[in-house]
Amino acid sequence: SGLITIDPGYKNTGSTQSAITFLDGEKGVLRYRGYPIEQLAEKSSFLEVVYLLIYGEAPNRQEIQQFQDKINHHTLIHEDMKKFFDGYPSKSHPMGQLAALVCSLSTFYPESLEPDMNEEEVDQTIIKLLAKMPTIVSWIYKKSMGHPYMYPKNKLDYVSNFLYTTFGHRTEEYEIDPVVVNAMNKLLILHADHEQNCSTSTVRIVGSSNSNLFASVSAGIAALWGPLHGGANQAVIEMLEVIRKDGGDVDKWVEKAKSKTDSFRLMGFGHRVYKNFDPRAKIIKKACDDILDKLGIDDPVLDIAKRLEKAALEDSYFVDRKLYPNVDFYSGIIYRALGFPTEMFTVLFALGRLPGWIAQWKEMRENKEPIGRPRQVYVGSGARDFKEISE
Ligand code: CMC
Repeated sequence: SGLITIDPGYKNTGSTQSAITFLDGEKGVLRYRGYPIEQLAEKSSFLEVVYLLIYGEAPNRQEIQQFQDKINHHTLIHEDMKKFFDGYPSKSHPMGQLAALVCSLSTFYPESLEPDMNEEEVDQTIIKLLAKMPTIVSWIYKKSMGHPYMYPKNKLDYVSNFLYTTFGHRTEEYEIDPVVVNAMNKLLILHADHEQNCSTSTVRIVGSSNSNLFASVSAGIAALWGPLHGGANQAVIEMLEVIRKDGGDVDKWVEKAKSKTDSFRLMGFGHRVYKNFDPRAKIIKKACDDILDKLGIDDPVLDIAKRLEKAALEDSYFVDRKLYPNVDFYSGIIYRALGFPTEMFTVLFALGRLPGWIAQWKEMRENKEPIGRPRQVYVGSGARDFKEISE
């Protein structure tokens, strides 16, 4: 129809009204439910932000305790799921495993497939997913290391429990370092929601057909995997390592990123919405210095990252196109300092983004939004007659 306008990449198309996250890309403002990201990253725990995003208000002490208790009842995953981990090749990418395992949860909880769930049933499904995701992520890590799986210790808080099941060992006590807990809380908070990005709009569009929460979030994980989205955090560290091994000449790589005959882009640079700076990147850059200092780690790629950032920000190509470091530019350096292998980085992004996906799926349901179904402009062949294959 002549009435359809196309907007590739939906650069100027709004798909929904939402009361969850406010973002002003010109001014570099990001707020969850009205609260500035800077304050949340400084003063709250990840679990408080999870509650805030999903239920709309910040919890008080009693509410957060009840929420933690409810989650702690569901941190185990079905023993049969262990066999799934055994089935993957040891070097298989964590994101492929995560998407499959999260989707598989729907087969263990068939009640979640019911589109007419009441509020309490929806909540049960949400709690199960929040509780099981960290265990799944930890076990993906354990599998990659060839280490035995660790069962959650439910007296621990959400983030400490995740660190325990990831880095704890059956043979020795694991001391949870408060520096690591704080760093992890901060990183997860900064990733918790980001309005209608590629993975979140995927979750909403899949959910709009009344697909269950596990399947919808699994689709979001698949969308997040790509290097232009969440996969950028892995790509950044790989890029910094290549630059380091190549001698560390950052100007050469800035030139390469500018070249229109070379498909190379500076990973961790640029954003669809932020055209001044990414407020998350600002917080992470500062946290990165602080955490490496506290952990006594001297990572040579941090120096390369800083020099690369400076060189790009002084170059008219990047200035004219308003390309700034995004959330992924420094996050990988912190993940690495905490002991995560590079291939786990995007899985950690997914763990952080989970409450955002859940909140958006829930809002889409409560708004009774219609099934997502974009139109197109057909440019293929006109009508023609089909001949049998023998002709
Ligand atoms: N390096 C070099 N040039 C770039 C880059 C970059 N990282 N990003 C954009 N450009 C150029 C691009 O070539 C284009 O130039 P021209 O106008 O001459 O054709 C211009 O800047 C606009 O780029 P675009 O691709 O039209 O912008 P977009 O809004 O469609 O893409 C983006 C946004 C994030 C996909 C892109 O900036 C990019 O590929 N960045 C690298 C990957 C990355 O860091 N992704 C993480 C995003 S933040 C976390 C998340 O949300 O997942």
